[in-house]
Amino acid sequence: MTWLVTGGAGYIGAHIVQAMRSEGKTVVVLDDLSTGHATRIDGVPLVHGSVLDYQLVEHTLRRHAVTGIVHLAAKKQVDESVRLPLYYYRENVEGLRRLLEAAIATDVEAIVFSSSAAVYGAPTESWVTEDTQCSPINPYGHTKLTGEWMVEAAAAAAGLRYANLRYFNVAGCSSPTLADLGGANIVPMVLRRLDAQQAPMIFGDSYPTQDGTCVRDYVHVADIASAHAAAANALAGGDIKALTANIGTGVGYSVREIVETLRVITGHESDAWAEPIVAPARAGDPPRVVAATDRIRDALGWRARHDVGQMLTSAWEGWVANRGR
Ligand SMILES: NC(=O)c1ccc[n+]([C@@H]2O[C@H](COP(=O)([O-])OP(=O)(O)OC[C@H]3O[C@@H](n4cnc5c(N)ncnc54)[C@H](O)[C@@H]3O)[C@@H](O)[C@H]2O)c1
Repeated sequence: MTWLVTGGAGYIGAHIVQAMRSEGKTVVVLDDLSTGHATRIDGVPLVHGSVLDYQLVEHTLRRHAVTGIVHLAAKKQVDESVRLPLYYYRENVEGLRRLLEAAIATDVEAIVFSSSAAVYGAPTESWVTEDTQCSPINPYGHTKLTGEWMVEAAAAAAGLRYANLRYFNVAGCSSPTLADLGGANIVPMVLRRLDAQQAPMIFGDSYPTQDGTCVRDYVHVADIASAHAAAANALAGGDIKALTANIGTGVGYSVREIVETLRVITGHESDAWAEPIVAPARAGDPPRVVAATDRIRDALGWRARHDVGQMLTSAWEGWVANRGR
């Protein structure tokens, strides 16, 4: 079975490509390199182009006799999605629609779709299950929920097997060459400031949580990758036909805990300038978003293997190795 990984030159995609290849799977990447880097996937066939290019996608699927797709190609910045909603709908929704059309036209059997905890919006449950109501609060979250619906409906109509995987907060790297260079998430944001000898920012410290700062479920990107490899195996073998599942650890850490751990890892725990600055809370930041992980454990036998210390240390090592890039 040959797998097409769209967005495979991106931060998460490159980890998935590595995990699938290490299991002996044949992988082809399609990526427009808008935020990805070809150097992350040395030695892997790379088709340079957009999922919006139907002819290219269909040709790629036929040429490589692709029977499974892992679809990551998308835009992912919440604030940008608020400013440029139609761009997000084009890239994330129309891109997936065309991909699904090409997949069905070429008899692809299975698809793994990269969804997000953003589909839940601002949940009130202590642990978010897949049955928690989906009420996304920004265009990015809307595009991911719409994507899930499209995958589900198209799969039912065409007999495709699918897994919609909702990632919680992804961080870390399995090697510095695969590090997250985007910097839009909390871990790279804090590392950037500490490395420039600037105080890290915390947005809001009067939430109803143990230390007043937001609590999130941080999952190592290598664990995200192993979940995709497990989903690909289960779909290929026909063990699962339809799955929507969270990928998280089930454990929440506050923003202050993450910042303090990063201060220790970077050697700035006793520097007065590295005391976090508390800025006003951002609109739409829910107090606590932590995954219930029973469904993915039961369906795929998967659980996260890395702890938060390993995740943050690897993120720092990746940051140092890529300074100035
Ligand atoms: N990083 C996170 O915390 C997180 C959390 C939940 C979900 N996700 C989802 O995971 C996926 C990957 O995220 P990432 O963090 O690796 O981001 P990334 O920006 O590093 O990767 C996205 C990849 O897709 C490519 N791409 C973008 N638009 C494309 C298009 N139209 N055609 C072809 N290629 C295109 C980019 O060049 C890049 O290589 C995205 O779908 C994102 O929404 C990420």
